[in-house]
Amino acid sequence: MAYLGAAYLWVKAAHVIFVIFLMAGLFMMPRFFVYHQETAPGSPEDRKWIERETRLLRIILNPSLVLVWLFGLMLMVEIGAWHFGWFHLKLLFVLGLSAYHGWIAGYAKKLARGERPLTDRQLRMLNEVPGIAAAVIVIAVIVKPF
Ligand code: HEM
Repeated sequence: MAYLGAAYLWVKAAHVIFVIFLMAGLFMMPRFFVYHQETAPGSPEDRKWIERETRLLRIILNPSLVLVWLFGLMLMVEIGAWHFGWFHLKLLFVLGLSAYHGWIAGYAKKLARGERPLTDRQLRMLNEVPGIAAAVIVIAVIVKPF
């Protein structure tokens, strides 16, 4: 349904701009967690990390996720992307990335409660998830292999 006209490329540019902000936040947060975990619950350093994580979520991550979805769905409707295989692959990985976002928000809450459920090594391994997902998503949307 072509309804955006000349605005299409502007919407696409906005989509990619917020994709960059979102990905930056998703890469930063598990790094924050590794440093945060080294602090003793209730210490002044602990409180500083809680503040940093809350701000990153509130100012960068959550608004970017909403805007990436909003502009992405507008593009989807415009080009009828739903009918293409590449879009289904993209959506699958985007849903995975959104779930990862949810996990990040949950883990930040646990750290704020003084819990330290994962080891540094596990956090560093989880940090590979957004990179791999982003690579698959970009290949799906640009190469459109099917
Ligand atoms: C949240 C749900 C999302 C939806 C519904 C969505 C949908 C779309 C659609 C329909 C297009 C236009 C494709 C075209 O013009 O051929 C597009 C472009 C793009 N998307 Fe998304 N997207 C989403 C999230 C993401 C994420 C998370 C990433 C990266 C990690 C991403 C990266 C891109 C890129 C790089 C383009 C530009 C491709 C080009 O130059 O043509 N998108 N998106």
